[in-house]
Amino acid sequence: MLNSAAVQRPPWVVGNWKMNGGLSDNEALLSGLLGLLEAHGGGRIAQCAVAVPAPYLFQSMVRLSGHSIGWGGQDVSAEPAGAFTGEVSVSMLRDFEAQFSIVGHSERRTRHAETDAVIAAKAVALADSGLVPLICVGESIQVRDSGKAVESVCQQVQRVAQALQSKALLGKAVFAYEPIWAIGTGRSATPEQAQEMHAAIRRTLSEIDAKAAAQIRLLYGGSVKAASAAALAAQPDVDGALVGGASLEAKEFFDIACAMSGQ
Ligand code: PGA
Repeated sequence: MLNSAAVQRPPWVVGNWKMNGGLSDNEALLSGLLGLLEAHGGGRIAQCAVAVPAPYLFQSMVRLSGHSIGWGGQDVSAEPAGAFTGEVSVSMLRDFEAQFSIVGHSERRTRHAETDAVIAAKAVALADSGLVPLICVGESIQVRDSGKAVESVCQQVQRVAQALQSKALLGKAVFAYEPIWAIGTGRSATPEQAQEMHAAIRRTLSEIDAKAAAQIRLLYGGSVKAASAAALAAQPDVDGALVGGASLEAKEFFDIACAMSGQ
């Protein structure tokens, strides 16, 4: 039986490939995933998608159209077009039928100095064009050790959520809680830590729009593996996962999607 949260917020599992892959590796990974899904038949599995490097959006569109795996970008510009060397616009993502893009990943916040204001503008640009903004938030280990993790993460959520709400777009958002200390470290947050933060994020969202907050999916990310996915998914406010390293292996990613199916 699906619980009521799973009916209202069908679980979503997104693979963040980061700057990995290549034409032939991607082909092997995607055909492996499609093969596993086909063999699985009608078995229960969370909705899956992959966030691919921009040069491989075309390959993803060709390979995944007509199948149940979605695809999207890892970042996007808030600007529609123009002199922004190296950037990718929302309409370029749309050209390749992307359904979403990650924004505000901690690797971009730290390495590219992205602020909440920049991330909010990107999220609005996506949602305004009908794409899902998958907005990452999270705290460093120093912030967690200082006891300010909830305050810091909820402030990130609030800034982006308010920008979306001012354009009546909040309901289109998905948030991913990714503690920076858990990303790529093999040290996932415990299910209790994830639930505590997800509940706080949902409270923050409900102060802005209670109806939207009940429907917005909150993914957990940070060293998610098949072995840890079911315990995370059992938390009432965990509605899926954003998966980095483990999304590069078809079987592991598939097993995570099965474990996250809300059964
Ligand atoms: P990880 O990455 O699963 O390798 O920890 C998650 C992410 O950065 O999205």
